[in-house]
Amino acid sequence: MNTAERLSKVPPYIFVELDQMRKAAVERGEDVISLSIGDPDLPTPSIIVDALAEAAKKPENHCYPLGKGKPELLEEISRYYAQQHDVRVDPYEEIVALIGSKEGIGHLPLAIVNPGDVVLYPDPGYPVYWISAHFAEAEPVPLALRPENDFLPDLEAVPSDILHRTRLLWINYPNNPTASVAPLEFFEKVVWFAKKYGFVVAHDAAYLDLVFHGHTAYSFLAVKGAKEVGIEFHSFSKTFHMTGWRLGFAAGNSRVVGALAALKANLDSGVFGAIQDAGIVAMKNFDKIVPELVAVYEQRCQVLTTALTNIGWRPAAKPRGTFYVWLPTLHQRSSMDMTKELLQRCAVMVTPGTAFGNEGEGFVRISLTAPEPRIKEAVRRIERANII
Ligand SMILES: Cc1ncc(COP(=O)(O)O)c(C=O)c1O
Repeated sequence: MNTAERLSKVPPYIFVELDQMRKAAVERGEDVISLSIGDPDLPTPSIIVDALAEAAKKPENHCYPLGKGKPELLEEISRYYAQQHDVRVDPYEEIVALIGSKEGIGHLPLAIVNPGDVVLYPDPGYPVYWISAHFAEAEPVPLALRPENDFLPDLEAVPSDILHRTRLLWINYPNNPTASVAPLEFFEKVVWFAKKYGFVVAHDAAYLDLVFHGHTAYSFLAVKGAKEVGIEFHSFSKTFHMTGWRLGFAAGNSRVVGALAALKANLDSGVFGAIQDAGIVAMKNFDKIVPELVAVYEQRCQVLTTALTNIGWRPAAKPRGTFYVWLPTLHQRSSMDMTKELLQRCAVMVTPGTAFGNEGEGFVRISLTAPEPRIKEAVRRIERANII
C-alpha cells in the first residue's frame, strides 16, 4: 500500500533510530548511559500526580473536553505570564491549551500558511518546525544558528524576495539544541521584520523557565508589538517534568490563537480534563517546583562542562539554560561518527548535531537527563577511551 508523498519525504524520526541503536547496545549487554533524548529522568512531582489521581475520578472529566481549555487552566496560565514574565494575556481570547506543544507546533502551519508560502526556521533546531511546514505544502527555509552569531539567526542576510514570501518565522529561546538565550533587542528586531514583511512569528518557549543563575530568558510577548505579530508555545513537559502527560499551550495574538483553536476543533477534542486539572495544580505550585528542578540541571551542567573541559572538550558556548550542552565534535569527526564512536567505545549515547539540521554537522548534543554519578561516569569513560 502506498503512503502519501508528504510522509515519504520525511526522514524517520531520528530519535526513534537512535533509540534502536541504544537498544541494540543494551541487548549486547552494555551498560549504556543515555544522554540523548530530552526526556527528564526525574519523575513528575507527586503533588501533580496526586492531583491527576483525584481528578480522574470526577465524572465531569469523563466527557469530551472541547474548547480552548478549562477556564481555570486558562486563568492560571494568564496569572503565570503576569507573575513570571510581566506579560498580560487575556485568558479566553489569547490562550489555547495543547496536547503537548509539539501538537501545536505541528498544526500551526495548517492554520495560517498556504501552499508555496515560505516558513523560516532555525537550523539547528527542533525538526518539527520544518516538517510541519512541509506537511502544509509550504517552503521551509533554514536560518543558520552559529556560535559566531551567538546562535541568533541573521535576518538581515535573508534575501528580500524570500522575506516577501514569508508567512511564518520560528524562533526558540532558550534554544534547543545550543542552550543559548536571546536578548530583548533580538526579539525587537524580529517584531520589526514581522511588521515590515507581514509574517507571523512563533516563538517556541518550551524551555523559557529553565534558565540558569545570572542569565535571563524573555518571553517574546514581553516585547512591544509582539502580540500584534506572534504567539508563543509552552510546554508542561520540561518545566514540570510531565513529558508523557501531553500538555502545553500557545498564547499571544488572538487571531493566530483563534485559527489554531479552530483547526484543532476539527482534529481533536481537547486535552483530557483530568490532565488540565493536574496542570492547574502544577501552575499554582510553580514557585515550589520549578526553581528546584532548574537547580538540578544547573548543577549537572556545571559537573559535565567542568569535567569535559578538564579533559579537553569544551562546549561550543557556555550553556545558559535548557538541559542540553552543545559541543563541537573532536578532530573533524562527523556528527554521526562521533555519536557512533561514543556509543561503541564508551557506551555513552548522545545526539548527532545533524538530527537538528545541516548546520548541526560538526556538533553533538548531550542531554543532562541522567543523575550526576552517571554523568561523571560518562566523562570517565570518554577520558579512558582516549577519544580526545
Ligand atoms: C524545542 C522544543 N519544542 C517543543 C518540544 C515538544 O515538547 P512537548 O510536545 O512535550 O510539549 C520539544 C521537545 O523536546 C522541544 O525540544
